Amino acid sequence: MTDPTPIPFALESSQRRFAFSALVGALIAVGCVAATPESHLTPVSADSTSAPTLPILVPGARVPVDPPAKGKETLVGGVPLFANWPKDQKPDAVIVFSGQTFGLLQPCGCSRPQTGGLERRAYFIDTLKAKGWPVIGIDLGDLYPEKPAVRDQGRLKYIATMHALREMGYVAVGVGKTDLTGQLDTLLGAYILQKEQRPFTLAGNAVGLDNAGKVVPRLQRFPVTPGDTRPLIGLTEVADVGTVPVGVAGVVGTSLALAARTTKLDTSIDFADLGATLKAATAELGKHAKKPQLNVLIYQGTSADAAKVAKDFPQFNVILSQADDALPPLMPQQAAGTNTLLVQVGHKGQHVGVLGAFRNAAGGLDLKYQLVPMGEEFITPGTEDEARKANRTLDILETYAKSVKAEINLAKDYRREPHTAQIHAAGLNPKVELKYVGSDVCKACHAAEHAQWAKTNHGHALDALEKLAKRPSLRQFDGECVKCHVVGFEHPTGYADEKKTPNLKHVGCESCHGPGSGHAANPKNKELTGLLSLWKQGIPGNVKMPDAAFIEKMAKLGPEARGKEAIAPAVQLTLNRVGGACMKCHDQDNDPHFDIYKYWPKVNHSGLAPAGGWPLVPPKK
Ligand code: HEC
Ligand code: HEC
Ligand code: HEC
Ligand code: HEC
Repeated sequence: MTDPTPIPFALESSQRRFAFSALVGALIAVGCVAATPESHLTPVSADSTSAPTLPILVPGARVPVDPPAKGKETLVGGVPLFANWPKDQKPDAVIVFSGQTFGLLQPCGCSRPQTGGLERRAYFIDTLKAKGWPVIGIDLGDLYPEKPAVRDQGRLKYIATMHALREMGYVAVGVGKTDLTGQLDTLLGAYILQKEQRPFTLAGNAVGLDNAGKVVPRLQRFPVTPGDTRPLIGLTEVADVGTVPVGVAGVVGTSLALAARTTKLDTSIDFADLGATLKAATAELGKHAKKPQLNVLIYQGTSADAAKVAKDFPQFNVILSQADDALPPLMPQQAAGTNTLLVQVGHKGQHVGVLGAFRNAAGGLDLKYQLVPMGEEFITPGTEDEARKANRTLDILETYAKSVKAEINLAKDYRREPHTAQIHAAGLNPKVELKYVGSDVCKACHAAEHAQWAKTNHGHALDALEKLAKRPSLRQFDGECVKCHVVGFEHPTGYADEKKTPNLKHVGCESCHGPGSGHAANPKNKELTGLLSLWKQGIPGNVKMPDAAFIEKMAKLGPEARGKEAIAPAVQLTLNRVGGACMKCHDQDNDPHFDIYKYWPKVNHSGLAPAGGWPLVPPKK
């Protein structure tokens, strides 16, 4: 890291101010931009007369996971939003920070409440603009999914996100690890190369590597294309936010630069010396005609490294870094001896950070901060038509869903791995190729179980995507949704699409029991029958789920009391395995309320065998 190079910023007033507002509750003023150039020369710490300020790089308080329900007022840390911002003064500039959204455009709607999504962020920003606040957005990057099921779908998500950010008034985005794994050139080609438009991608230390491994400067590797004024990847941007010129720079931090190089995320891209890049960035902002009064650095690196940058480059008033944790701290942090606010916004777009800049008497800026969880209260109100007119993001999402339907082949493009039962069956003598046959085939011999199943929501689970899923619709064509709402989508011969495999719609028998062609054709074969209950494998005796009375009792107990109940180890193991099978779909993201003791009774279909056992051939109707 280079030594801090003082860059005198042109700031209006002469009075040096760095007092912080008192720490009231969790929501406090978080700092101020000192009004003199000198304050940029020496990083200042809050003096003793002002209240003690921010936690010094200790993990901040975490917000509760569950956002308030629709219609309820948002409370963060027990206090309404912006409660500790000045009441009698509008902020002169507001910046919404986001990042590491990982392609999560919308909550899936599988369970409630869920936090996050572009629609709510757009609506939230509109509520700020409706107060007459001048707002821009800045995003850390990692727009592309962490593990896209299909690469092209990741690209479609990136495009949708960029369009949505533009509509929300975003100025700049950084470049994260997922954007590199998503083939940055393809992503740039899909958005910024199409048209010079906001948000601009900033990663000033990005350079190219030619075939011989020689460095190609950024402006050659990511050039200004004919007719444009900006390179595909820039170093800085300056935006007028209300009357406040805001400077933004973006870099890829030390850790990501190293990881990108060692794991060869993209062998045609490398990252130049960070210190030199930051020196150039501060110089560029310092001599910018608009005289930025508030400077933000998009730092795609760890918060610890961001703190070092804060020491060396006090010209940045705010640094947005990667999150230490999926849930962000309530307040920005500060490194000892610096005045820079270190902002983190967590993962998956569940929260945004809002910075308000208020001009003070001395002509400097007092800064306030508010972390906002994107809860259901920010769902665009009104009918579908009204909502779509009010919130442009909804059209963008609908366009995304249409592109997925048109460009991604549901039947062919998603990866399929053999089901464990298919692997076992292929090893049998004679070996069997297990296929999915559909719940109707099972119904022929298991009428009672089928009738019981048909009453549950599993029996019509795909309808939820066709009829319930909105904003966007068309989710029955999106493999990322379909996979848990049908039979065997992730395995060979499983659900392909509505025309090819209508018999495999919904969460059918084989969603839990696995492909059943072997058993259905030959129910006398114990091995094939055994493959339908893999949770029993290796457990001697015909162990079953605990009886109804035990399950009912457990459902009423808390986790600690449950631990004290006696249960045979083999039954416990069965229960765990069955629960694990459920949680392939009822996972933390899609159904955080899942509890095997509460859910199993609703789908239990044991003990329904007809007297004399199930038929060996389908009975004639
Ligand atoms: C031709 C009639 C027939 C069809 C079709 C059929 N089964 Fe069976 N099923 C049986 C018979 C008979 C048994 C008892 C086998 C035994 O006890 O060895 C049985 C037993 C089972 C068992 C219980 C195994 C245990 O733990 O005791 C499961 C689970 C099962 N079937 C699921 C299915 C599923 C899922 C399908 C559809 C893919 C299906 N069956 C189709 C006749 C059938
Ligand atoms: C990992 C599995 C999984 C994926 C992927 C998934 N779902 Fe679901 N979905 C579930 C489960 C489990 C439930 C039932 C939750 C419950 O009972 O609380 C559900 C329920 C639903 C419901 C019904 C909610 C209601 O009010 O009845 C809708 C709508 C839905 N999902 C939409 C989607 C959409 C849209 C996607 C894709 C963006 C999606 N799901 C992807 C597992 C999944
Ligand atoms: C949500 C997952 C799930 C679905 C869907 C499901 N089953 Fe089961 N099934 C199970 C589990 C788990 C057991 C083991 C229950 C136990 O040990 O008591 C089981 C047990 C059975 C048994 C043995 C019952 C007994 O009395 O021993 C049969 C037969 C069966 N299922 C058939 C079916 C058929 C037919 C369908 C579709 C119509 C179906 N199952 C759908 C999870 C499922
Ligand atoms: C293949 C994915 C999948 C598996 C495996 C699965 N489920 Fe589900 N489950 C769903 C989906 C999707 C829904 C929502 C259907 C809807 O609402 O339309 C659902 C809904 C339910 C519901 C209804 C919730 C309600 O509030 O009405 C219960 C109960 C349930 N599942 C229990 C289970 C249990 C217990 C298991 C394991 C034995 C299990 N599920 C395994 C996908 C799955």
